[in-house]
Amino acid sequence: MKANKIRKENALQAFMISIILLLAGGFYSLQAQKVGRWQSYSGDRDVERRVDSVLALMTLEEKIGQMTQFSANWSVTGPIMSDDFQPYLEKGLIGSIFNATSVEGIRRFQQIAVEETRLGIPILFGQDVIHGYKTIFPMPLAESSSWDLELMQETARIGALEAASDGINWTFAPMVDLGRDARWGRVMEGAGEDPYLGSKIAEARVIGFQGSNDGTKLGELHTLLATGKHLAAYGAAESGRDYNTAELSEHTLRNVYLPPYQATVDAGVGTMMAAFNEINGVPATGDRWLQTEVLRNEWGFKGFVVSDYTGINELVPHGVAEDEKHAAELAVNAGIDMDMTGATYIKYLIESVKEGKVSEEAINQATRRILEMKFLLGLFDDPYRYLDEERAKANTMTPEFMAKAREAVAASVVLLKNDNQVLPIAKGSGKTLALVGPLMNDSINLNGEWAGRGDRNKSVPILQGLTEKYRGTGVNLVYAEGSTLTETTEEKIAEAVAAARQADIVIAAMGESFHWSGEAAVRTDIRLPEAQQELLAALKATGKPIVLINLSGRPLDLSWEDREMDAILQAWFPGTQGGHGIADVVAGDYNPSGRLTMSFPRNVGQIPIYYNQKNTGRPVDLNDESIDYKSNYLDTSITPLYPFGHGLSYTTYEIRDARLDRPSMKAEGDAINVTATVENSGPADGELVVQLYVRDLVGSVTRPVKELKGFEKVALKAGESKEITLTLKSEDLAFYGIDMRKKTEPGNFKLWVAQSSTDNTNEVDFSVE
Ligand code: NOJ
Repeated sequence: MKANKIRKENALQAFMISIILLLAGGFYSLQAQKVGRWQSYSGDRDVERRVDSVLALMTLEEKIGQMTQFSANWSVTGPIMSDDFQPYLEKGLIGSIFNATSVEGIRRFQQIAVEETRLGIPILFGQDVIHGYKTIFPMPLAESSSWDLELMQETARIGALEAASDGINWTFAPMVDLGRDARWGRVMEGAGEDPYLGSKIAEARVIGFQGSNDGTKLGELHTLLATGKHLAAYGAAESGRDYNTAELSEHTLRNVYLPPYQATVDAGVGTMMAAFNEINGVPATGDRWLQTEVLRNEWGFKGFVVSDYTGINELVPHGVAEDEKHAAELAVNAGIDMDMTGATYIKYLIESVKEGKVSEEAINQATRRILEMKFLLGLFDDPYRYLDEERAKANTMTPEFMAKAREAVAASVVLLKNDNQVLPIAKGSGKTLALVGPLMNDSINLNGEWAGRGDRNKSVPILQGLTEKYRGTGVNLVYAEGSTLTETTEEKIAEAVAAARQADIVIAAMGESFHWSGEAAVRTDIRLPEAQQELLAALKATGKPIVLINLSGRPLDLSWEDREMDAILQAWFPGTQGGHGIADVVAGDYNPSGRLTMSFPRNVGQIPIYYNQKNTGRPVDLNDESIDYKSNYLDTSITPLYPFGHGLSYTTYEIRDARLDRPSMKAEGDAINVTATVENSGPADGELVVQLYVRDLVGSVTRPVKELKGFEKVALKAGESKEITLTLKSEDLAFYGIDMRKKTEPGNFKLWVAQSSTDNTNEVDFSVE
């Protein structure tokens, strides 16, 4: 810390502080010895000493100030603190500010903290950098459909680089909440319904943001401190209603929902965010079992925990706290280190400590954890080190970032249906295409709800992408909007139909507004709005083949479209390079390789629907679902419209000869190798996601009918075959059984080397001894 940044009128005090801080740099301070060893994130003794030496100078109020985060508002001239928060900033009672963007704005806040407060402790600047900062990549659920961990790590790295160059130190990502309910608008932020894939993606994203899997790159100017969120089971909200109750057995919590959060911890995540919801009667923000016993004592997390927004205040309406003071006490005693915007800590905790309701050691512990991150980020050495206008300019929306964004769009698109190979439409085909639909010439919706600081006007509309793609190739394009997202008129429909009549193929870009998914954006009807279906029906009546490009933040009920349309391309919210990446797929310059990570239901009544369900005592025979007294529906199939792992391509693949190197393995420390031949049997080069599923036939508690346990994305030229080998470790089969201990239970298993979760062709038996 720089002593000369401390107020002039406190010169004497500043002098004394600077002497102590100098000593603290290299030697044991008396205080450090008194406080003793604490379990730090970095495990670096020197950092611990430096943290303790700062702690020794702080008043109780200043410590609680470090545990306080406020949000900056945005004004025409830049970020401002609201009048309520400004006094805290001026007294050195804010540890972190979020939503303060731009180098200039952040510098202003940092100057106040560092140069005008008693101790001059620098501020940590946070932001929701969810799928990019200014270059916006496809929304996370979209990117997860690429099953390309390197790509997801790379887009997180670019997001971190852009944001850190703009002065941000901390992102509230990755969101790793498992999503089994398409009504819930926040499924867009996650990685779908599977704990195994979700954990791998969680790890990739943490490494992308933080630069490594052990926190050692934090402080390098291209990294951000990451946040695993929202602990826990936020996605298990009853009826998909945001913030709603999650009622889960401990088995389901541990076997299904918790693994991705733990994966962020294993990947060295620096912070964790508590969820808004309650689980089994205890709101996560006041849940000591979850935030301390499980997170710290079982998983070994040593970073700090932040509440979600006013999550602490919300313990009052949840009905577990009498008032906000009580809420603050519950939260800090549960293990929540920082209060995001709720101001409960700064208002009440001094009194709570005096009353003995919160120990001073709890405050010291939380403050240490927060200060440690500031040391690791280098903010004590130079609080302005992230603030450099030139660097910000150089690292914003560069051609390299744009190219990666375009690649990510193409890799995230999922071809759900493609009758008569209507796609791709080759550049030399000489066809006329009618381009219609409310999202065909739209740039505003493409970035999705969590668009960081991405400029919505800069996103490439699909119309522009297709126009540039086909310019000069002999393919003719005719455009008519046909409808808005929710309304149409006879004239608009007539215009679109006229365009269709002139064309060989219709391409319709339809779907959701970006506001219909994300936080507090829940829908009970997840079909395309009537106006869009009316337009599609009129186009269908022309008899022309129709390609539907569906842009949505969630799986939609596309049952009607599946019957009526010739091809469906699920394009999500694709971000800045949306139009170009989609055009690459439509024209066949990129052969779609995306595979769903979340099941698409046949209708909303099937939700929650997921592939890794239990068998039940009365499983349904899928060859005859009409049999009575089975776990079926009277009015629809139990299967999803498009299952987890599904995705078509412009070529065909075959997997054959799945075999094991051994028929059995030991329950601990063992592995078997699964080998299969994978062939590209069709006309185009492409990439296949080979998926390894297992079924544990008998367990001490019931086991899912299938569980993903491995995958590999294999590139194959047309006609090419490859042998691929996937390794299954005995630990991969471990689960929390009847005694709530995690272990692999001996017994018989099946495995499948498959193209989707419903592909049963390559089935092999094995056992665990
Ligand atoms: C509330 C959201 O739940 C959380 O994910 C986000 O990080 C914070 N708001 C801050 O924007």
